[in-house]
Amino acid sequence: MKKKTVKDYIRTIPDFPKPGILFRDVTTLFGDARGFRMCVDQLLHPYAGEEIDKVVGLEARGFILGGAVAHQLTTGFVPIRKKGKLPGRTIEQTYALEYGEAVMEIHDDALKPGERVLIVDDLLATGGTALAGIRLCERLGAQVVGCAFVIDLPDLGGRKLLEDAGHEVHVLCA
Ligand code: PRP
Ligand code: ADE
Repeated sequence: MKKKTVKDYIRTIPDFPKPGILFRDVTTLFGDARGFRMCVDQLLHPYAGEEIDKVVGLEARGFILGGAVAHQLTTGFVPIRKKGKLPGRTIEQTYALEYGEAVMEIHDDALKPGERVLIVDDLLATGGTALAGIRLCERLGAQVVGCAFVIDLPDLGGRKLLEDAGHEVHVLCA
């Protein structure tokens, strides 16, 4: 029998959270021991020998993946959260979503100038969330050495947006 791939564990739910959106649901991937391990191993693989100081996870599913990747790479983990959730002093960035607009924040002391950062999230759609995350890291003086995602939705152009801005993008499936 053919070995299951990461993509095989992900389900698509139509019309969530709005009509017309095909929502890629990774809870079925995270809920499976083999699937989750395979996914985390593949996400961090290109960075295993690299000097990474911090893994930055984007709310909310980037926290689950980013925490596991940070543990495996033995780095610290830094959350980028939706506005109003972080308790300390923050800087913020507004961004457009496939279905709306939002503001994200990072603690202003979470990264030091020159730190090498890997950004992790579950999905790349328009790239708005990831680009806002990159900007927040860069505004603190950090260097984003890579952006790793489980899923890319190529029709929405996020990968091109990030690559055109000079960023290395690693995705597991489309
Ligand atoms: C999803 C996904 C990414 C973002 C990608 O998060 O987890 O973070 O959208 O979209 P983009 O490339 O068009 O910016 P969502 O905004 O649904 O937030 P959540 O994880 O907190 O539910
Ligand atoms: N974030 C933006 N678009 C998405 C989609 N189609 N599925 C899951 N998360 C998303």
